Amino acid sequence: MSDADRLRWQRRYGERPFEPRPAESWLIDRALPVAGPVADRTVLDVAAGEGANALELAARGGRVTALDIAPRALDRLQAEARRRGLDLHTVVRDLDAPDALDGLGSFALVVIVKYKPSGAQWRAVVDRLEPGGHLCLCSFALTEPQGDAPKPEEGAFDRRGRRSAYLLDRAELQPQLERLGCALLLHEAFERRGDRLEGFVWRKRDV
Ligand SMILES: C[S@@+](CC[C@H](N)C(=O)[O-])C[C@H]1O[C@@H](n2cnc3c(N)ncnc32)[C@H](O)[C@@H]1O
Repeated sequence: MSDADRLRWQRRYGERPFEPRPAESWLIDRALPVAGPVADRTVLDVAAGEGANALELAARGGRVTALDIAPRALDRLQAEARRRGLDLHTVVRDLDAPDALDGLGSFALVVIVKYKPSGAQWRAVVDRLEPGGHLCLCSFALTEPQGDAPKPEEGAFDRRGRRSAYLLDRAELQPQLERLGCALLLHEAFERRGDRLEGFVWRKRDV
């Protein structure tokens, strides 16, 4: 599965030239005010891609590690970081590998944008989050923001052709993160240019 993922994402990044994009506005405007200042915190950007968010977090003084399966995306991210005079760490890792996060240390802030971790990936990610640390997630949603639409069948696609297995299901997510010791601080559902998105901020409980 992951070899196929890597090839698919490598190909996808190769199909278009790099264009710097702004960071996810929900992350910056809504999540960070809840999660707190970034400066001097250790930050992990999970499935960072070309790193619009990692770059913004590094510009705010975060000590950022950007992880992705696609080397092409991370090469572009490093090139852009150099161009902007920013220092950040990139690692090519497959989140499906049991040792995906080995050797990276722990993090005070984890951000995940437009990626849906599996159950095993959530366990590994939360394991790397320091007690009291924050986890920000923003991605495409499975359900309507009002929660009144029927849930699509497993394997179905949303109206933009995204597989429902890749869409956030808050009914599944919230208990999953609670079991991993995270308390929900913020949840918002919203529409943007016809896409349904959801954003979450959790805080890992102190031990
Ligand atoms: C939709 S992109 C989002 C990129 C970035 N977070 C953003 O918001 O621009 C999803 C990213 O997940 C990465 N990805 C997919 N499967 C992965 C895996 N098994 N391990 C690590 N990264 C993966 C892809 O390479 C891609 O960069």
